[in-house]
Amino acid sequence: MRISSLVVSIVSALGTIGSSAQAQTLTDAALVERGHAVATAADCMACHTVPRTGKPFAGGYAIVSPLGTIYSTNITPSKTSGIGGYSEAEFSRAVRQGIRKDGAHLYPAMPYDSYAGITDEDMHALYAYFMHGVEPVDEVSKEQTALPFPFNLRFSMAFWNVLYAGTTPFTPVAGVSAEINRGAYLVNVLGHCTSCHTPRNALMGAIQSEALAGGFVGPWYAPNITSDPVSGIGGWTPDELVAYLRTGHAKGKNQAAGGMAEAVQNSLQYLPESDLAAIAAYLKSTDPIRDKTEERAAYEFGSPHSDEDSIRGTYPPTAHDSLASGKELYSGYCASCHQPNGAGSDDQAYPSLFHNTATGSIRPANLVAVILYGIDREVDGKEVLMPGFGKQSYVTPLTDRQIADLSNYVLQNFGNSQANVTPDDVAMARTGGPKPILATVQPFILPTLVGIAIVIILIAAGWFIGKRRRRLAPVAAR
Ligand code: HEC
Ligand code: HEC
Ligand code: HEC
Repeated sequence: MRISSLVVSIVSALGTIGSSAQAQTLTDAALVERGHAVATAADCMACHTVPRTGKPFAGGYAIVSPLGTIYSTNITPSKTSGIGGYSEAEFSRAVRQGIRKDGAHLYPAMPYDSYAGITDEDMHALYAYFMHGVEPVDEVSKEQTALPFPFNLRFSMAFWNVLYAGTTPFTPVAGVSAEINRGAYLVNVLGHCTSCHTPRNALMGAIQSEALAGGFVGPWYAPNITSDPVSGIGGWTPDELVAYLRTGHAKGKNQAAGGMAEAVQNSLQYLPESDLAAIAAYLKSTDPIRDKTEERAAYEFGSPHSDEDSIRGTYPPTAHDSLASGKELYSGYCASCHQPNGAGSDDQAYPSLFHNTATGSIRPANLVAVILYGIDREVDGKEVLMPGFGKQSYVTPLTDRQIADLSNYVLQNFGNSQANVTPDDVAMARTGGPKPILATVQPFILPTLVGIAIVIILIAAGWFIGKRRRRLAPVAAR
């Protein structure tokens, strides 16, 4: 292939309109439509709209971070309440570098560390869309972000950015197919898959050497999606990956709940098939990262098993709160949909609980989280629902002990029997999952700083008093 045609194919693979993009007027319908596609792939909707009740992009969506709740802002083109006053350069700086029009730093809950890679052409189209394709909403959300000290000091993000934020727009890697380059752009930049699937260090920066190797997102665990056949998605066919991304459901593999359900619902289901294939091709091409404690893929665990006969008739069907053991709880709350033997319904609309990464993983976080929070995902206008059994449950709120017993029953009989759930694990999942060190030490930062300040004041006072004493003392005594 000639260099020029390679460049053309890469440029067109990135969906760009070439150098003419910059010259197009912002109201150009094709440009606005392209910006809409970029916004969809980047899932701006998920965070900037309150689900069900909120107006599109009017903000106010609560992102529960381990450091406190961060509220998204209004990014409609409203001049009074939104970003109507942003120039294209200011918009680009906010999205790619996390700096607001007024110069204040945004929190990385806005994934500007990924968006830093957005190409100039896509950025231009995105601006056109937000200025001319989005309805202005003149309302500021009542909820405002108020993180505790020291995280309320927005300028501290400038230091974080030096360490962890990206700086350059994505450039295709030479010698790699246009499809894989497109997939890399969708995964690492627009789709910001890394913001959930890459583990974070003590300062909550993404650990680049473990890109896509799996990380906690609140109480959920975003699994390893590198190409490793044991720890990652190496054993998934490209078709299974595409089905999962488009519908949130891959038979015999997993169903999307938590943040993944939102990604499917707001973004991935609308991507063209070629983009989903590109994501699958890229994931399959990533360097495999293996967790040494794992020997089999999570979706390989388990087989049908039923205890229904042993408990039949031992309790009245209405006596739900008297159900004590894991098997009774399973029979009472889960078997109606997932079947007594865990195989799920024939069409797998109620999925099998064996051959499911949520139950086969050595980290049973997603099993616990789905029992607590359930699933609510809308795809192709149809709703996929599993009730949660947490505090707000419309079925029955279960206790930490009951959920632990139930989880262990499921793990022992359908999943990874090496995994184990304690009531404390359930309690932690209720309060938002494992806390990073930064959040754990937060309550001590202010007292520590005050303590250090007091020590400094005491030393300074001692030095000052000592000096005065010396000065006041008779010359002979010095
Ligand atoms: C994962 C959640 C998330 C996604 C996805 C997201 N944002 Fe944000 N965004 C936020 C949050 C949270 C804030 C406010 C952060 C703060 O107050 O520090 C924000 C702030 C902003 C701001 C600053 C507005 C202002 O003046 O306060 C702009 C502009 C913006 N986002 C644009 C976008 C665009 C465009 C996209 C899609 C390409 C996008 N965001 C996707 C969470 C998100
Ligand atoms: C907001 C966080 C978040 C984002 C963004 C996200 N994911 Fe996920 N992902 C998750 C969680 C959580 C799960 C586990 C879902 C479950 O088991 O219910 C998951 C599961 C998956 C799985 C199934 C893995 C397995 O072993 O079961 C794949 C594949 C996947 N995600 C791919 C992607 C891709 C590709 C992107 C970017 C386009 C992406 N995800 C973006 C949170 C996220
Ligand atoms: C009313 C029917 C219903 C009940 C009752 C029910 N589920 Fe589900 N469950 C579902 C549906 C529907 C899905 C998701 C299917 C999909 O996403 O395509 C699901 C998914 C799951 C998953 C996979 C989640 C993931 O994150 O990958 C697990 C594990 C699970 N259920 C366990 C349970 C357990 C344990 C119980 C009992 C406490 C239970 N379910 C009760 C309908 C139900």
